[in-house]
Amino acid sequence: MSRTYVVTGAASGIGKATSELLTGQGHRVIGVDLKGSDVNVDLTTDDGRTAMVDQVTELSGGVVDAVVAVAGLAAPIAATAGVNYYGAIATLEGLRPLLLKSDAPRAVTVASMASLHPHDDALLAAFTDGTEADAIARAQELQAAGPDVGYAIYSTSKQALARWVRRTAITPEWAGAGIPLNAIAPAVVLTPMTRDLVATAEGRAQLTAQVPMPLNGPMEPIVAARLLAWLASEENSHLAGQVVFVDGGYDAVVRGDKTW
Ligand SMILES: NC(=O)c1ccc[n+]([C@@H]2O[C@H](COP(=O)([O-])OP(=O)(O)OC[C@H]3O[C@@H](n4cnc5c(N)ncnc54)[C@H](O)[C@@H]3O)[C@@H](O)[C@H]2O)c1
Repeated sequence: MSRTYVVTGAASGIGKATSELLTGQGHRVIGVDLKGSDVNVDLTTDDGRTAMVDQVTELSGGVVDAVVAVAGLAAPIAATAGVNYYGAIATLEGLRPLLLKSDAPRAVTVASMASLHPHDDALLAAFTDGTEADAIARAQELQAAGPDVGYAIYSTSKQALARWVRRTAITPEWAGAGIPLNAIAPAVVLTPMTRDLVATAEGRAQLTAQVPMPLNGPMEPIVAARLLAWLASEENSHLAGQVVFVDGGYDAVVRGDKTW
């Protein structure tokens, strides 16, 4: 049966692959991105988030079957905190009323294997217990300290998003309303986000050492898209609050027996 999906980050990489996969399966996709999509907004701003909900409501007629919140940045800049954490949550929470009108609502977002990398405690506390202004202020400090320190904006935003999914998925508003809410956590996906990292043999060797993926190495975006599509499908009736690593084994390499 044809369903209506909202996919953010639909103009590139994983979001684009997901949109194409779903469209090819006969579903309707309302794409959201900065530009080149059905809804063109900046998810780091309140105005952009409000416009996204308004335009998706209009385009969908008020009913959405699944939200796939993919949009994100990996750059060591404060905007990464804005889109990866607050933009994703604004998408999921803002469109939840439209999901409630569906017979089989689903929601999924994209965390990352970077959630296992070192994070910044002050930024994590701001994400989980502070305001957006607190988090952006701390991210600006990390940005100012240069890219090596600034990387923690990315890793911390993804850890915070994964924690939000686990805490939120089991609440009356989500599980209690019959909406499975989950995340995927990819390792290295070959998209514009990672293009520079894999452009040279030296870069690829460095990446392999930093992010070992014993099963098949870095993946094409369709691999992550297939998992997102299944988590957002009617077939997914009982996964809730899961962060599913699609990572060629990276999580098992680094966490081993520490989680199961
Ligand atoms: N590529 C990887 O190796 C990898 C690994 C783990 C997780 N991820 C996550 O997957 C998601 C997609 O990444 P990708 O690799 O497809 O990257 P990408 O750069 O190809 O696509 C990201 C998309 O998000 C959009 N976007 C960024 N900021 C936005 C904003 N403020 N408002 C609206 N849209 C915005 C971009 O315009 C772009 O089209 C991200 O959340 C990323 O963190 C990627």
